[in-house]
Amino acid sequence: MSKPILILNGPNLNLLGTREPEIYGATTLAQVEEMCRTEAAAHGFEISFHQSNSEAEIVGWIQDAISGAAGIIINPAAFTHTSVAILDALKMVSCPVIELHISNPHAREEFRHRSFVSLAATGTICGLGVAGYTLAVQAMANLLDPAA
Ligand code: DQA
Repeated sequence: MSKPILILNGPNLNLLGTREPEIYGATTLAQVEEMCRTEAAAHGFEISFHQSNSEAEIVGWIQDAISGAAGIIINPAAFTHTSVAILDALKMVSCPVIELHISNPHAREEFRHRSFVSLAATGTICGLGVAGYTLAVQAMANLLDPAA
């Protein structure tokens, strides 16, 4: 079996669906996971889907991905704008990395305009709502197997 696509979600995304729905929508993280699993399966991939409010836990999952994941899709949430530790962890992996945001951070407060994670990302999807997750899985499948 090929390695899974690792999908990581940062702080407060556990409350997706009820958290600031005018910005992030009404879909829950469990529903997002199901959308990702279905899309990945359509491309012949499995996913490993996680959320944590802890920077340390996210760094640990990225370290595990050095040998254990085909690619990483990450919505680092607020850690996008603060975490050199997540950036450094991502710099150690050789697989493709897609940075994902539900909202468009560039159209929001200035402190959201800087992303440490972008420095290690193959590409970024933002501002398209939770549909961005499905698009990210499609894009990852294409990066991993352009013929698919
Ligand atoms: C977010 C954008 C971040 O600025 C914010 O801190 C989040 C979610 C997004 O998905 O739009 O928690 O990553």
